[in-house]
Amino acid sequence: MNLHQIVYYSRNTVGGDTRSMLQGLRDIVSVSQKNNSRDGITGALIFDKTWFLQVLEGDVTAITRTYDRIAKDARHGEVTLMKKEPISERRFADWSMGGTMRSPEMQEIFLNHGIAGAIDPTKLDAGTVVALAQDLKAFEAGRKASVA
Ligand SMILES: Cc1cc2nc3c(=O)[nH]c(=O)nc-3n(C[C@H](O)[C@H](O)[C@H](O)COP(=O)(O)O)c2cc1C
Repeated sequence: MNLHQIVYYSRNTVGGDTRSMLQGLRDIVSVSQKNNSRDGITGALIFDKTWFLQVLEGDVTAITRTYDRIAKDARHGEVTLMKKEPISERRFADWSMGGTMRSPEMQEIFLNHGIAGAIDPTKLDAGTVVALAQDLKAFEAGRKASVA
């Protein structure tokens, strides 16, 4: 396997009221988990009402094919590749695709990565997106444990 990582951002055009947008986002995450498990892809998807930030890792052929398919999806636009590089190990090994909707309780985590207000993806570098996604993953894991 020729392990690579892709990081991109795009503008969320899912639309609708909060409820239907959340349902639309859940649909994206569930199809992604199904396909990515099949294709040996792992990663994370962060979103708010305006932007998507996504990390895809896996074999270069598999993630390129998936990225090309994602880029054509009408549920987002301005799909902008931030990074596509070889990596030595996966950062999201146990996540076929973790989806995190930004919420006020995550404020501090975003602040730790220099994001105080609205996300401006043009000001972010790929390394920050990956580090933010890892911290959000740890946060989600803790939250699940506390609910259980
Ligand atoms: C922001 C965003 C992220 C997505 N991420 C993935 C992904 O990681 N893997 C995937 O297979 N599809 C992803 N999709 C969905 C694809 O664009 C496409 O709808 C899907 O792969 C088609 O799957 P199907 O042929 O099984 O219906 C994403 C779509 C959006 C809008």
